Amino acid sequence: MPSVIAGTGHYLPAQRLTNTMLEQRVETSHEWIVERTGIHERRIAKDSENTVTMGVAAARQALQAAHLHADDIDLIIVATTSGDYAFPSVACEIQAQLTTNSTPAFDVGAACAGFIFALSVADQYICAGTYRHILVIGTDVLSRFCNPEDRNTIVLFGDGAGAVVLSAGDEGGILSTHLYSAGEFANLLGVKHASRTSADPLAEAWMFMQGREVFKVAVTKLSELVIETLAAHQLTPAAIDWLVPHQANMRIISATAKKLELPLTQVVTTLAYTGNTSAASVPIALDTAIRDGRIQRGHKLLLEAFGGGFAWGSALIDY
Ligand code: UT7
Repeated sequence: MPSVIAGTGHYLPAQRLTNTMLEQRVETSHEWIVERTGIHERRIAKDSENTVTMGVAAARQALQAAHLHADDIDLIIVATTSGDYAFPSVACEIQAQLTTNSTPAFDVGAACAGFIFALSVADQYICAGTYRHILVIGTDVLSRFCNPEDRNTIVLFGDGAGAVVLSAGDEGGILSTHLYSAGEFANLLGVKHASRTSADPLAEAWMFMQGREVFKVAVTKLSELVIETLAAHQLTPAAIDWLVPHQANMRIISATAKKLELPLTQVVTTLAYTGNTSAASVPIALDTAIRDGRIQRGHKLLLEAFGGGFAWGSALIDY
């Protein structure tokens, strides 16, 4: 039984952080950021917002779009790496706000690729006939991991959440998912937990990133991945209506689109005004293009993401 996308939603905090504002904080320029990343501004969660509040807002939209109530949901999977607690999981906190049922709920941690990994897990449960309706959420506040003095990271990351209701359907839906990890690159991108024994617990807890190295691996792996995803179905790039990529850097997105010989008019991008929202980036882009009417029922979608771990993955979907 295939899993189909029954509804989508997303949430972005109201607070904007523009490139001009960043120019006041670190040695950078609007021109450099736009040229090297394509980002103009990002949304930053205020103190009262976190992965849970944003995830709940996105989930409610997705449920409404799917014409379902939270009590209809059989499983909640949340892709995140920036919850307030080591435990309980963000998924359990979200479950508590959505329903009084004992719906199973758990987090998936695969950094920026988390949503694709979570979608893949949900797809297996539905295809196996275990569950009928699954809420898959990507929610992250990675701006809180960025050292305010580190121009490497603060120009890239923003906050947000996106959600999808996946339901058992009759045909189409998720055709396949493809997941990969390469732990040997762990030193290139990550965030260490604050140490409880250190004199300065925060000192080592900021995000570290070797941008140029991450960039190179991301371009190589994503190019291989999208071709492999199509080959698994004997499809050519012409079969794809929309590429819905992880929103990390316009140059990475363009390289992937070029590999597919897909014009940028068939690529959904939000990063100019969202920046990189990590696990939320793909579902935010997906929901944006569904709500503004670009993505229509019957379209073939290729979703892909790459992030810390490294972990990367794709999903081919008949929407
Ligand atoms: O989801 C995965 C998360 N991470 C990523 O996807 C990151 C992938 N990497 C990237 O997006 C890019 O590597 C960056 C946007 C991070 C950097 O772009 P780049 O073209 O790779 O720049 P670079 O690191 O090679 O630096 C080029 C120059 C350097 O100056 P010199 O040595 O040429 O004089 C940097 O010091 O740009 C300088 N630079 C900056 N200048 C202004 C680096 N960061 C900045 C900045 N503003 N924010």
